[in-house]
Amino acid sequence: MSADTARATPATATALGRLWMGAAWYPEQWPEQRWDKDLALMQAAGVNVVRVGEFAWSSLEPAEGKYDFDWLARAIRLAQKHHIFVVIGTPTDAPPAWLTSKYPQVLRVDGDGRRAEHGNRRQFSYSSSLYRKFCRDIASRLAQRFGHDPDVIGWQIDNEYSDESFDPDTRKMFQDWLQQRYKTLDALNTAWTTTYWSQTYTAWNQIPLNDKSGNPGWMLDHKRFVTATWVSYQQNQIDAMRPYVNPRQFITTNIGGLGLSDNWDHYAITRPLDIAAWDPYVGEGHLDFYRHGAVSDYVRGWKRQDFWVMETQPGFVNWAPVNNALYKGEVRAMAWESVGHGADAVLYWQWRSALNGQEQYHGALVGPDGEPLPLYSEVAQIGREFETASAAIAGTTPQSDIAIITTYDSRWAIDFQPHNKLYDQLAVLLDYYRPLDDLTHSVDVVNAYAPLDRYKVVFAPSLNVIPADLAQHLADYVRHGGHLVLGPRSGMKDQFNRLNIQRQPGPLVGVLGGRVEQFYALDQPLAVSGSIGSGTASILGETLSVQSPSAKILLKYGKNRTWLSGEPAAITNSYGKGSITYLGALLDPALMRRFIVQELHDAHVAALFPPLPSDVELMRRVGKSHAIFILINHGPGNRVVRLPVVMHDILRGGRDVRTVHLATQGVAVLEESNAH
Ligand code: GLA
Repeated sequence: MSADTARATPATATALGRLWMGAAWYPEQWPEQRWDKDLALMQAAGVNVVRVGEFAWSSLEPAEGKYDFDWLARAIRLAQKHHIFVVIGTPTDAPPAWLTSKYPQVLRVDGDGRRAEHGNRRQFSYSSSLYRKFCRDIASRLAQRFGHDPDVIGWQIDNEYSDESFDPDTRKMFQDWLQQRYKTLDALNTAWTTTYWSQTYTAWNQIPLNDKSGNPGWMLDHKRFVTATWVSYQQNQIDAMRPYVNPRQFITTNIGGLGLSDNWDHYAITRPLDIAAWDPYVGEGHLDFYRHGAVSDYVRGWKRQDFWVMETQPGFVNWAPVNNALYKGEVRAMAWESVGHGADAVLYWQWRSALNGQEQYHGALVGPDGEPLPLYSEVAQIGREFETASAAIAGTTPQSDIAIITTYDSRWAIDFQPHNKLYDQLAVLLDYYRPLDDLTHSVDVVNAYAPLDRYKVVFAPSLNVIPADLAQHLADYVRHGGHLVLGPRSGMKDQFNRLNIQRQPGPLVGVLGGRVEQFYALDQPLAVSGSIGSGTASILGETLSVQSPSAKILLKYGKNRTWLSGEPAAITNSYGKGSITYLGALLDPALMRRFIVQELHDAHVAALFPPLPSDVELMRRVGKSHAIFILINHGPGNRVVRLPVVMHDILRGGRDVRTVHLATQGVAVLEESNAH
């Protein structure tokens, strides 16, 4: 779906039709006479949206079947008096004590068989049909009451789906799910090669469910089952709400996790939602702008449309080893970086810390006295700037010529067996991303099964699982003129997480005109060189062979004592109208950059901008008739950027500029002046 089509539905138009800035607000934690002051302070900071309700079950249904939604209705009305719209979270991440004590069977059971107790959140079993009945009831009642409220713009289901359950009912569901998938035990036994260690199953109820490591086929299927269970958990609430929710109100969920969280498949979870939303936190340390950019691009890829930052840290958190505050200006830089990568909303978690509760030390915008904390003024600046830039940014979205592709099957398969503890998939992805971002300023990170024809080059850093259908999709892309680059570990496994019998890259061996002879974990960097230059390979290296006259060797390992000595490290082949390259090594940053430069050059990817000073990030969002450029100086010094053409400086009164001066954490939002 193109961004324009995505925006065409009333719900996505609400969510993505302007810039939103806001906070998580928990009115149930405060005396009602206080609400107006909070909302006035929010309004003064430029807040135009609050998220409410997502842990408030004991206030919304204080006893079984006894509901009190009036306080929420009053909070919504009061918010609108201050021109603040509302997203309602369904409260199902925090079941009330009356529920879990009367129906303890809804409590989740951990991998060691311990049932959760009340006193925290996320203590429910995600597969419990009884728990789902309660979820359906509260979600549908909330939708009936607020589904046509003009001040409610959207809904968040639950909160950061997290913990699986390993109770006997879930085990039975897993076994039933496998039976539906495989039909016969013979098929399952073959797919998982269960003759290994006498794992052969002769009845479905023998199949285990636990959180320990085991047969790779079983582990991959458990991840898929976890995904299917969260999908149906979520669908239960969507179905309860949709009949009552105005088409203008969006339904989403907030996805948590530092970096590339991977408990379940995010493409599957976001498919039935109107928009994707996530919760980026830095935790300890400072903003790594490549990492935040890459993960934001990956979030944009879930639905291939703009998204919401439903929560982010107001300066600091309470759960990292060291909960340092972001630098002055860094919260603002991070907000604008999110927008540059496709966010249309940024909400801070949270407005004010509850006086008691587990997160007393977390950053907030007002203190226990109800007065602004130091960060409030920086957030107010973001609010003012979002207001100023909103009209120009509405209807724009990042647009890339290149993509990085991933799949959850590959992510999980590698994480189960990293082979070298230093093989970190986010780090590997970032090795590709940094030079790509520097050179093109716009990278899509999408599911490998997504339409790829619009991309000039597609990079697959760790595509370990390549079943026949995916191989076909990738081969078609190359045949039609695409340039595909595969990284180490590609195509080792099939859809059952079984070794592909063709060696790597499995069903793409014919397209590549070559194959991987052997993979090796490296305990020391090895020299590598070729026509693009020389450098080192580390962590994991593969030796390749050329099997077709059209295939060429690009890089070779230097002479050394290992089995990789003098062997090909990268090969390339032309195929149809395009090309395929296999890079069997993780290269040092300088050689990796040269490799990427060469790939972009071969695929005729043009530079968007002249080279930028170090630490300056450039992002572009494209609309029907104009483009927005966002420049951020993430470094400690002052920077000057000469623009290729005159642009309007939106945050500085829209005046025409050709040169931009950026202090540390400085942000410029520019509109391409001659595109109207
Ligand atoms: C998560 C949760 C929030 C809050 C924050 C604190 O993202 O969704 O409720 O606990 O962490 O950082």
